[in-house]
Amino acid sequence: MSNHVPVYVTASITAAGVLGGAYLAYRLSQDKPTKLPETWEKVGVLKTINVFPIKSCAPVVLDTAECTYLGCRDGWLRDRVLMVVDSKNNFITARGYPELLQIFPTVRNSVLTLSHANMESVNVNLAEVVALNEPETVTVWREPVTVYDCGWEPSEWISRLIDRSSTGYRLVYYAADNCRRKRPGSDKFYKYTKNNTGALPDETSFNIVNEASIDDLNTRLPSDSQVSQRNFRPNFVMTGAQPYDEDKWKFLKIGENVFEIIKPCFRCVLTTIDPETGTRNSKIEPLTELRKYRLAETVEERKMWGNSPRMGIQLALISKPGGKVSVNDPIYAA
Ligand SMILES: *[C@@H]1O[C@H](CO)[C@@H](O)[C@H](O)[C@H]1NC(C)=O
Repeated sequence: MSNHVPVYVTASITAAGVLGGAYLAYRLSQDKPTKLPETWEKVGVLKTINVFPIKSCAPVVLDTAECTYLGCRDGWLRDRVLMVVDSKNNFITARGYPELLQIFPTVRNSVLTLSHANMESVNVNLAEVVALNEPETVTVWREPVTVYDCGWEPSEWISRLIDRSSTGYRLVYYAADNCRRKRPGSDKFYKYTKNNTGALPDETSFNIVNEASIDDLNTRLPSDSQVSQRNFRPNFVMTGAQPYDEDKWKFLKIGENVFEIIKPCFRCVLTTIDPETGTRNSKIEPLTELRKYRLAETVEERKMWGNSPRMGIQLALISKPGGKVSVNDPIYAA
């Protein structure tokens, strides 16, 4: 332990003193620490925090959140801890079911409320879901994941919304304290650890988009195909950087937290569905435009991701869980 102390001391002197706590927290949370950069540069400001309690549904926008290995959290409100499964117990997403984007979840104490413009809202008490159900196994991206069934009321509500059936679909709630298993293959190329994969997100527990990159993309897109951060479903939106500066960062520091950048986010057709209306863009924008200049940079990654272009980056929390992030926090990169 004693030979770690000078590293921490050096680092905290080099960076602004107020940031030292993050290094200490980082040191305490790791067995084999990643070598942390010694100099950080202020690159922008946190503009928006989005938490998506249900995979593929609308976000809850927060001013402050706690960062955990399972992602952003505010009490019972946690990122991507719920999802919809079909009658084969496999997850569904807005890629195939765009109407999911029109479901607006809110969480008050332990009560999740689902709202939709054309339906009466329905409540689910998550504390009761945990207390009254046995865990069961469903699949997400072919991987088994342990969940609780949320009962007949949300099942009926979602099924009615999707195809007017009464039982086709169910809402399920993530039943583990740890991150879910990694998707096979993904960890060969990228530096995932067991603490990076979150509850039910596709890849990592956190992601951020640089608003300047989206602004630049909009200058290239036709006026009837403009996008916003909402098309990309990030947890964090930052302002103040240059477009695509995020390509060169390895670490980010936001509020009390240090994040390592695991990989770019390679985008799918979900970005082409208007988050306000749920309609698909007829020109397949913004994917068509992004493919012209944002495909994977290396040959190996191109093999893995084909014609999925990059927008936003995926992050792993490497400082001690429980740190706060707040809107207007300065963001430092290295
Ligand atoms: C994951 O988190 C646990 C709990 O904080 C910690 O003990 C463990 O060392 C972490 N594992 C990795 C690989 O970082």
